[in-house]
Amino acid sequence: MSILEYNGGAVVAMLGKNCVAVASDLRYGIKNTTVGCQMRKAYPIHQKCLLGMAGLATDVQTFLEKMKFRVNMYKLREDRDIKPSSFGNMVSSALYENRFGPMFLEPVIAGLEGDDNTPFISSTDLIGAQCFTDNFVVVGTASEALYGMCESLWKPEMEPEDLFEVISQCLMASVDRDCNSGWGGIVYILTPDKLITKELKGRQD
Ligand SMILES: *[C@@H]1O[C@H](CO)[C@@H](O)[C@H](O)[C@H]1NC(C)=O
Repeated sequence: MSILEYNGGAVVAMLGKNCVAVASDLRYGIKNTTVGCQMRKAYPIHQKCLLGMAGLATDVQTFLEKMKFRVNMYKLREDRDIKPSSFGNMVSSALYENRFGPMFLEPVIAGLEGDDNTPFISSTDLIGAQCFTDNFVVVGTASEALYGMCESLWKPEMEPEDLFEVISQCLMASVDRDCNSGWGGIVYILTPDKLITKELKGRQD
Protein backbone atom coordinates (compact mmCIF):
# COMPACT_ATOMS: atom_id res chain seq x y z
CA MET A 1 0.00 0.00 0.00
CA SER A 2 1.29 3.44 -0.96
CA ILE A 3 1.72 5.93 1.89
CA LEU A 4 -0.34 8.35 -0.26
CA GLU A 5 -3.30 5.99 0.26
CA TYR A 6 -2.80 5.47 4.03
CA ASN A 7 -5.59 7.87 5.13
CA GLY A 8 -7.70 7.82 1.94
CA GLY A 9 -9.68 10.74 0.56
CA ALA A 10 -10.73 12.33 -2.72
CA VAL A 11 -10.57 15.92 -3.97
CA VAL A 12 -11.82 17.38 -7.27
CA ALA A 13 -11.72 20.94 -8.64
CA MET A 14 -13.73 22.21 -11.61
CA LEU A 15 -13.81 25.30 -13.73
CA GLY A 16 -17.06 27.08 -14.63
CA LYS A 17 -18.10 30.39 -16.19
CA ASN A 18 -16.47 33.02 -13.95
CA CYS A 19 -16.54 30.53 -11.08
CA VAL A 20 -14.60 27.55 -9.76
CA ALA A 21 -15.54 24.72 -7.40
CA VAL A 22 -13.60 22.37 -5.15
CA ALA A 23 -15.20 19.28 -3.57
CA SER A 24 -13.83 16.67 -1.20
CA ASP A 25 -15.08 13.70 0.77
CA LEU A 26 -15.16 13.76 4.59
CA ARG A 27 -13.55 10.44 5.57
CA TYR A 28 -10.50 10.20 7.80
CA GLY A 29 -9.17 6.66 7.99
CA ILE A 30 -6.14 4.54 8.82
CA LYS A 31 -5.81 1.91 6.09
CA ASN A 32 -9.22 0.17 5.92
CA THR A 33 -10.45 1.45 9.31
CA THR A 34 -12.60 4.59 9.25
CA VAL A 35 -11.69 6.82 12.18
CA GLY A 36 -13.63 10.02 11.47
CA CYS A 37 -16.13 11.48 9.03
CA GLN A 38 -15.71 15.25 9.50
CA MET A 39 -12.39 15.82 7.72
CA ARG A 40 -12.68 18.50 5.05
CA LYS A 41 -9.85 18.45 2.54
CA ALA A 42 -10.19 21.90 0.97
CA TYR A 43 -9.15 25.17 2.59
CA PRO A 44 -9.83 28.82 1.68
CA ILE A 45 -6.48 30.62 1.23
CA HIS A 46 -8.03 34.05 0.71
CA GLN A 47 -11.23 35.59 -0.77
CA LYS A 48 -10.52 34.25 -4.26
CA CYS A 49 -8.34 31.18 -3.80
CA LEU A 50 -8.87 27.63 -2.52
CA LEU A 51 -6.40 24.84 -1.80
CA GLY A 52 -7.49 21.20 -1.75
CA MET A 53 -5.18 18.41 -0.58
CA ALA A 54 -5.34 14.61 -0.60
CA GLY A 55 -2.73 12.27 0.81
CA LEU A 56 -1.09 11.63 4.18
CA ALA A 57 -3.10 13.65 6.75
CA THR A 58 -0.05 14.57 8.89
CA ASP A 59 1.79 16.00 5.87
CA VAL A 60 -1.39 17.79 4.73
CA GLN A 61 -1.64 19.59 8.10
CA THR A 62 2.06 20.50 8.14
CA PHE A 63 1.97 21.72 4.55
CA LEU A 64 -1.21 23.78 5.09
CA GLU A 65 0.43 25.66 7.99
CA LYS A 66 3.56 26.24 5.88
CA MET A 67 1.46 27.62 3.01
CA LYS A 68 -0.59 29.87 5.35
CA PHE A 69 2.70 31.31 6.65
CA ARG A 70 4.08 31.93 3.15
CA VAL A 71 0.82 33.50 1.92
CA ASN A 72 0.81 35.84 4.94
CA MET A 73 4.45 36.81 4.26
CA TYR A 74 3.56 37.46 0.61
CA LYS A 75 0.67 39.73 1.63
CA LEU A 76 2.89 41.69 4.03
CA ARG A 77 5.55 42.23 1.35
CA GLU A 78 3.25 42.95 -1.62
CA ASP A 79 0.27 44.55 0.19
CA ARG A 80 -2.16 42.46 -1.90
CA ASP A 81 -3.55 38.92 -2.08
CA ILE A 82 -1.53 36.40 -4.08
CA LYS A 83 -2.87 35.45 -7.54
CA PRO A 84 -4.09 31.82 -7.67
CA SER A 85 -1.60 31.02 -10.47
CA SER A 86 1.25 32.48 -8.38
CA PHE A 87 -0.01 30.51 -5.40
CA GLY A 88 0.18 27.40 -7.61
CA ASN A 89 3.85 28.20 -8.27
CA MET A 90 4.42 28.78 -4.54
CA VAL A 91 2.90 25.36 -3.69
CA SER A 92 4.89 23.72 -6.49
CA SER A 93 8.25 25.10 -5.35
CA ALA A 94 7.49 24.35 -1.66
CA LEU A 95 6.90 20.71 -2.61
CA TYR A 96 9.99 20.57 -4.84
CA GLU A 97 12.10 21.84 -1.92
CA ASN A 98 11.56 18.34 -0.50
CA ARG A 99 12.43 16.64 -3.81
CA PHE A 100 14.46 13.81 -2.23
CA GLY A 101 12.19 13.25 0.80
CA PRO A 102 8.80 14.39 -0.44
CA MET A 103 5.68 15.28 1.53
CA PHE A 104 3.08 12.63 0.72
CA LEU A 105 0.27 14.84 -0.57
CA GLU A 106 -1.24 16.01 -3.83
CA PRO A 107 -2.70 19.52 -3.93
CA VAL A 108 -5.29 21.15 -6.20
CA ILE A 109 -5.43 24.94 -6.54
CA ALA A 110 -8.55 26.81 -7.66
CA GLY A 111 -9.28 30.51 -7.79
CA LEU A 112 -10.36 33.61 -9.67
CA GLU A 113 -7.73 36.10 -10.84
CA GLY A 114 -7.45 39.58 -12.23
CA ASP A 115 -10.12 42.31 -12.49
CA ASP A 116 -12.19 40.11 -14.82
CA ASN A 117 -12.14 37.13 -12.41
CA THR A 118 -10.63 34.66 -14.88
CA PRO A 119 -11.11 31.17 -13.38
CA PHE A 120 -7.93 29.18 -12.71
CA ILE A 121 -7.35 25.56 -11.64
CA SER A 122 -4.25 23.42 -11.42
CA SER A 123 -2.90 20.43 -9.54
CA THR A 124 0.54 19.03 -8.82
CA ASP A 125 2.02 15.69 -7.88
CA LEU A 126 3.87 15.12 -4.60
CA ILE A 127 7.10 16.70 -5.87
CA GLY A 128 5.38 19.77 -7.34
CA ALA A 129 5.13 18.98 -11.06
CA GLN A 130 2.25 21.18 -12.12
CA CYS A 131 -0.72 20.27 -14.32
CA PHE A 132 -2.77 23.09 -15.86
CA THR A 133 -6.17 22.43 -17.44
CA ASP A 134 -9.26 24.38 -18.44
CA ASN A 135 -11.76 21.78 -17.25
CA PHE A 136 -11.13 19.74 -14.06
CA VAL A 137 -8.42 18.24 -11.87
CA VAL A 138 -8.70 15.24 -9.54
CA VAL A 139 -6.47 13.83 -6.77
CA GLY A 140 -6.76 11.14 -4.10
CA THR A 141 -7.68 7.49 -3.80
CA ALA A 142 -10.90 7.84 -5.86
CA SER A 143 -9.16 9.67 -8.71
CA GLU A 144 -9.69 6.89 -11.29
CA ALA A 145 -13.46 6.93 -10.80
CA LEU A 146 -13.39 10.74 -10.64
CA TYR A 147 -11.69 10.97 -14.05
CA GLY A 148 -14.51 8.90 -15.55
CA MET A 149 -17.32 10.89 -13.92
CA CYS A 150 -15.74 14.27 -14.76
CA GLU A 151 -15.11 13.25 -18.38
CA SER A 152 -18.81 12.37 -18.65
CA LEU A 153 -20.50 15.23 -16.77
CA TRP A 154 -18.27 18.29 -17.16
CA LYS A 155 -19.18 20.82 -19.84
CA PRO A 156 -17.82 24.30 -20.61
CA GLU A 157 -19.28 27.61 -19.35
CA MET A 158 -21.32 26.29 -16.41
CA GLU A 159 -23.04 28.76 -14.07
CA PRO A 160 -22.42 28.28 -10.29
CA GLU A 161 -25.70 26.34 -9.80
CA ASP A 162 -24.89 23.84 -12.58
CA LEU A 163 -21.28 23.58 -11.46
CA PHE A 164 -22.43 22.64 -7.95
CA GLU A 165 -24.73 19.94 -9.31
CA VAL A 166 -22.08 18.48 -11.63
CA ILE A 167 -19.21 18.45 -9.10
CA SER A 168 -21.46 16.96 -6.41
CA GLN A 169 -22.71 14.13 -8.64
CA CYS A 170 -19.12 13.41 -9.78
CA LEU A 171 -17.87 13.20 -6.18
CA MET A 172 -20.75 11.16 -4.76
CA ALA A 173 -20.71 8.63 -7.62
CA SER A 174 -16.91 8.26 -7.51
CA VAL A 175 -16.46 7.73 -3.76
CA ASP A 176 -18.90 4.80 -3.91
CA ARG A 177 -16.32 3.04 -6.13
CA ASP A 178 -13.55 3.52 -3.53
CA CYS A 179 -13.60 2.02 -0.02
CA ASN A 180 -11.03 4.56 1.28
CA SER A 181 -13.09 7.70 0.61
CA GLY A 182 -16.69 8.78 1.12
CA TRP A 183 -18.77 9.31 4.30
CA GLY A 184 -20.34 12.48 2.87
CA GLY A 185 -18.75 15.42 1.12
CA ILE A 186 -18.20 19.16 1.11
CA VAL A 187 -18.40 21.53 -1.86
CA TYR A 188 -16.93 25.03 -2.12
CA ILE A 189 -18.21 27.25 -4.95
CA LEU A 190 -16.16 30.38 -5.52
CA THR A 191 -17.87 33.22 -7.43
CA PRO A 192 -16.59 36.80 -7.92
CA ASP A 193 -18.55 38.08 -4.89
CA LYS A 194 -18.89 35.11 -2.54
CA LEU A 195 -17.68 31.72 -1.37
CA ILE A 196 -20.56 29.24 -1.04
CA THR A 197 -20.01 26.15 1.16
CA LYS A 198 -22.41 23.21 1.00
CA GLU A 199 -22.21 19.90 2.85
CA LEU A 200 -23.37 16.73 1.09
CA LYS A 201 -24.97 13.83 2.95
CA GLY A 202 -23.74 10.49 1.67
CA ARG A 203 -23.69 6.80 2.53
CA GLN A 204 -22.18 6.11 5.95
CA ASP A 205 -20.97 2.56 5.31
C1 LIG B 1 -8.61 -3.14 2.31
O1 LIG B 1 -9.81 -3.67 1.76
C2 LIG B 1 -9.71 -4.06 0.41
C3 LIG B 1 -11.08 -4.43 -0.09
O2 LIG B 1 -11.69 -5.39 0.76
C4 LIG B 1 -8.69 -5.17 0.27
O3 LIG B 1 -8.55 -5.54 -1.09
C5 LIG B 1 -7.34 -4.69 0.79
O4 LIG B 1 -6.41 -5.73 0.75
C6 LIG B 1 -7.48 -4.15 2.19
N1 LIG B 1 -6.24 -3.47 2.54
C7 LIG B 1 -5.57 -3.68 3.65
C8 LIG B 1 -4.31 -2.89 3.84
O5 LIG B 1 -5.96 -4.47 4.49
